[in-house]
Amino acid sequence: MKKKILVTCALPYSNGDLHIGHMLEHIQADIWVRYYKMRKREVWFVCSDDTHGTAIMLKARELNVSPKLLILNTFKEHVFDFQSFNINYDYYSSTHHIQNFYWTKKLYYRLKLRNLLQIKNIDQLYDTDKDIFLPDRFVKGTCPVCYSKNQYGDHCESCGSIYKASMLISPISNISNTIPIIKNSKHIFLDLSILQKKLYQWIISGVVNKNVVNKIKEWFLKDLHSWNISRDYPYFGFKIPDFYDKYFYVWLDAPMSYISTFKCLCNYNSLLNFDEFWKKNSHTELYHFIGKDITYFHVLFWPLMLEVLGFRKPTKIFVHGHLTFQGKKISKSKNSFITAKKWLKYFDSDSLRYYYASKLSSKIEDIEMNLKDFENKINSDIVNKVVNLASRSSSFLSKYFNNILSKKIQNMHLYQQFTDASFEIGRLFENREFSLVIKKIIFLTDIANQYFNEQKPWKLLLTTHKTLLHEICTMGINLFRIIMTFLKPIIPDLAKRSESFLLIHLSWNNIDTPLLNHRISIFRVLYHRIKVSDLNNDLNH
Ligand code: MSP
Ligand code: ZN
Repeated sequence: MKKKILVTCALPYSNGDLHIGHMLEHIQADIWVRYYKMRKREVWFVCSDDTHGTAIMLKARELNVSPKLLILNTFKEHVFDFQSFNINYDYYSSTHHIQNFYWTKKLYYRLKLRNLLQIKNIDQLYDTDKDIFLPDRFVKGTCPVCYSKNQYGDHCESCGSIYKASMLISPISNISNTIPIIKNSKHIFLDLSILQKKLYQWIISGVVNKNVVNKIKEWFLKDLHSWNISRDYPYFGFKIPDFYDKYFYVWLDAPMSYISTFKCLCNYNSLLNFDEFWKKNSHTELYHFIGKDITYFHVLFWPLMLEVLGFRKPTKIFVHGHLTFQGKKISKSKNSFITAKKWLKYFDSDSLRYYYASKLSSKIEDIEMNLKDFENKINSDIVNKVVNLASRSSSFLSKYFNNILSKKIQNMHLYQQFTDASFEIGRLFENREFSLVIKKIIFLTDIANQYFNEQKPWKLLLTTHKTLLHEICTMGINLFRIIMTFLKPIIPDLAKRSESFLLIHLSWNNIDTPLLNHRISIFRVLYHRIKVSDLNNDLNH
């Protein structure tokens, strides 16, 4: 029986535009999903907006709108951006959805039932100007260990020490630039001992990349006692049932959205069985694509939540590196903030998908967006190699053969060499070795163009070998068709235009039979050369 697969991406926060760093993750996952769908596997792909937390509440204040309105507007923008990049979610929801509240409460009651929650009184920094408790990331001060200045509330970047924000020397609130006071408040802590007892072996058993496992072992050596899952008013999130004015910490309800969004999908598609995907010992597969910065939550807390709910655990967690621009992680600071929308002002979405694919592997290395390299790659691979093969073959076909392919191809042996590559390329797709997929495809494209050069069809025009000319051009079109079939999960727009040109549906299952005696349409430019100078100017102004 064919395996059923559920795939997710990390949920982007609702407080800003999607940028091309986010897209690295969604494109990577989308390529993988499209590949499996093309191979007729049952794959479901879900995600949602991550709508809760202090940052979103503050952003709403800054814009002078309610958090609800902010997350609604952002939701529309995110959905639009994903569609523009051909990220094909089967369901895209929001962590603020009532279904997610239901699952978060369910988790909470289970935690209570299993005696895994404790109430503790803790000291926290409080901004009296804005009347809010300060999250660690919203406060800076001097490290209590090495005395280096300008350190965040949770750890020192200079000496690596981890401490409580209340221990910072001379703390300053990043929100109001005032000195916070220390205020005491009750919080709910989740007992993490279950991690050591039940989950450690599973976590290091191969669900994540080997490089990540070492980091995890370090975490287990350190402090893994309890985790604060509550936040005080004012906060934007779900209220905790038994308390007055306490909210679930955003990182508790966010992962629950993997479950609740799938539940929404099941409600929408009655053929889907929720339990089949989530029950313990499920035979389906569950994969999460995440960035390395959120590994902690996904390999420690998320499986813990699943364990407590009595659910299955992920099959694999695919951790990727960050997109860097000019050597730094892409950020909102000027000169490097390329939003999804800005990208589409200058280029199409296939170009970004292709560039990422050409750089992605199953490793967690960072990926640098080098615009010059990007320009070269797209123009050289897609325009000069792939599309060129179609255009040069079709020019003769339209001039002399009425756009109808010959009854046989000129070199069946070469054709088979191309179809045989489908096994290796398929395996590389499955292992997420997309850069090797591209390498192999471009290797084949070079062979195809070389074939065309060696046959010198333009010379045949001067002789009476019209049949041979016909078969060579038909060969070119057929090789182009195989290449575009392999590239379809990566560059769906060009694949679509190629389908209109070839007047067929590009499908992996029937490449073994060449296209013969078939009319294709008139060749129109399938892809335009790109230039990055305009984007560069935009970024520098
Ligand atoms: N909301 C949390 C995830 C909750 S999942 C239950 C979050 N949001 S985020 O918007 O900051 O990031 C969403 C995803 O995008 C994360 O996997 C993150 O690693 C990824 N990326 C954000 N910036 C990135 C780059 N510059 N490069 C690659 N991925 C990046 O974390
Ligand atoms: Zn320090």
